Amino acid sequence: MTTTYTDFKQKHVIVTGAANGIGQAIALAFAEQNAVVGAWDIDEENLRRTCIDHDNLYPLVCDLSDPKQVASTHALAVAKHGEVSTLINNAGVDRRMSISEQSSQDWRWMLSVNLDHQAQLSALVAPAMKQHNTGAIINMSSTAWMKLAENLTAYHAAKAGVIGLTRGLASELGPYNIRVNAIAPGRVITERVANLVDEKWIEETKQLQCLKYLISPEDIAQTALWLASQSARSITGQTIIVDAGVT
Ligand SMILES: NC(=O)c1ccc[n+]([C@@H]2O[C@H](COP(=O)([O-])OP(=O)(O)OC[C@H]3O[C@@H](n4cnc5c(N)ncnc54)[C@H](O)[C@@H]3O)[C@@H](O)[C@H]2O)c1
Repeated sequence: MTTTYTDFKQKHVIVTGAANGIGQAIALAFAEQNAVVGAWDIDEENLRRTCIDHDNLYPLVCDLSDPKQVASTHALAVAKHGEVSTLINNAGVDRRMSISEQSSQDWRWMLSVNLDHQAQLSALVAPAMKQHNTGAIINMSSTAWMKLAENLTAYHAAKAGVIGLTRGLASELGPYNIRVNAIAPGRVITERVANLVDEKWIEETKQLQCLKYLISPEDIAQTALWLASQSARSITGQTIIVDAGVT
């Protein structure tokens, strides 16, 4: 069931990692609320497929691990669609790597695709939000680092870092009425995840969760909509765990 919010009509919303999975569901959810949605991703093919049937969903191809591309894409987006009212820092990569096998370049890359661009884009959108004395930023974390999933040390460092980033930004930007929160999803059954897992994983997931169904990307999208809306106007600096109650 989708709630209708009046907050986003004609407002410029950026969603990163919008070509697939959770980001795609979030971008479509904001588009349904009549926002002007900048859908950012490195995956040009799926990005165009995502945007094709939606007049208010604009594909922007960008490698978020490259600060120069992030800056130039932001400048282009603002020139085309105006100042940003809501930023959803969703893009990320959960590449498994043992710390003993990983090079310093691997480490740097994992931090750049999972944490750095969230800080950079937040800094880029903040001045206009400050000027208008309103704005919402949502950063995607994960419960993986809380649950100690294996061989994901760089991912854990980045996703735990997202919580610190969120609290730092909430404190700095709160006086300008800009709210900054994080979402930490549990196991979400995106298309990518569905292609990787088997019946055993599905059963194990249901066992682990209080709620006995699989979390969909749309479940995360509905949380993002609510958190970005005025319904959550007094919530900032928080991490909302959406994991169907993992015990
Ligand atoms: N699916 C889950 O179970 C789960 C659980 C916890 C957290 N998360 C987090 O949610 C977010 C979305 O995950 P997902 O499962 O939908 O993943 P996904 O792989 O389906 O989608 C991620 C998107 O990010 C894009 N992306 C990756 N690197 C990029 C780059 N350098 N520049 C631009 N775009 C880039 C990809 O092309 C892709 O479209 C991620 O931050 C992930 O860590 C997912």
